[in-house]
Amino acid sequence: MPLPPAPNPPRPVRLIALMNQKGGVGKTTTTVNLAAAFARAGRSTLVVDLDPQAHASLHLGIEGGQDSGADRASIYDCLIDPAFDATSALVEASPNLWVLPSTTDLAAAETELAAIPEREKRLERVLASLGGRFEFVLIDCPPSLGLLTINALAAAREVLIPMQAHFLALQGVGKLLETVGLVSKAINPKLRVAGVVLCAHDASSTHTREVVADMDSFFEQARQAAGEGNLPWKFARVFRPAIRRNIKLAECPSFGKTIFDYAPQAPGAEDYAALGEALLRDWDAMLAKRAPETGAMATPPATPQPTPQVVTIPSAPRAEAAS
Ligand SMILES: Nc1ncnc2c1ncn2[C@@H]1O[C@H](COP(=O)(O)OP(=O)(O)OP(=O)(O)O)[C@@H](O)[C@H]1O
Ligand SMILES: [Mg+2]
Repeated sequence: MPLPPAPNPPRPVRLIALMNQKGGVGKTTTTVNLAAAFARAGRSTLVVDLDPQAHASLHLGIEGGQDSGADRASIYDCLIDPAFDATSALVEASPNLWVLPSTTDLAAAETELAAIPEREKRLERVLASLGGRFEFVLIDCPPSLGLLTINALAAAREVLIPMQAHFLALQGVGKLLETVGLVSKAINPKLRVAGVVLCAHDASSTHTREVVADMDSFFEQARQAAGEGNLPWKFARVFRPAIRRNIKLAECPSFGKTIFDYAPQAPGAEDYAALGEALLRDWDAMLAKRAPETGAMATPPATPQPTPQVVTIPSAPRAEAAS
């Protein structure tokens, strides 16, 4: 299929960074399968693979690593060379679902970009050069808070945090929110935390339920405390449904397929379809509220508000398990 055309006038683009500096929490699985859910709903969707591990590319059946022998243009070329035509690197994975793939070269980009002016804005420029061809852009971040992730936060409007509900993960999310706070203050004031996606979730565990309750009450308190302010996670929430632990989700990357193509009846497909529907509903409701004369997005008023330097997610006292 040819590339989707750049709409004129430009349309709103939902630009989401899937971020968590902790490794193996479900960022790539969520990026790929949520993107597939949007694409299956007929919405043009782009996955930006911003991780040198290139897992999102592989998950979507795109061999891009140096060992693959494929001399493929990638996000690396787009970031390093401002004159590079990003559309030439796009690959169609399935109807409505495109990928800006990664290669292992991208590991060098952190160092190479460090010497370049406006190094944190490179991805924003690359995405702007695509001219709104995609209604949904999902950026799969690497498990670090380095320059690649900062580029994702500078380019995105929303952050989605895939997380597995364990006690130590709460501290990690606190650190992540601090980073979002700093980036929103210094580089990207429009950045908002959409919320947390619970991955590989086991709702039968008491510990898991306690951690989810801690997250829920943290966001609830942030909502109340922020008042009319513009704290980046003021409207954040823990998304339901949680994505259940499901072995089919772990199997499908090795076939280069999304869960919908690999095991459409599996719980993983059901959960990602439901999460996709919830996010589409939010987005469509937001579009419906757009100011008709200006086409401007209905964004909350931006009252200056100090963003906390240190973010702690308190955990409720727990009863010790009987031994
Ligand atoms: N709901 C789930 N049920 C079972 N396995 C899952 C689930 N979600 C993710 N996995 C598996 O857990 C592993 C880590 O997931 P994934 O690669 O999505 O995490 P990640 O955060 O992107 O990791 P990294 O930080 O290395 O980029 C993978 O093997 C994946 O297939
Ligand atoms: Mg990953």
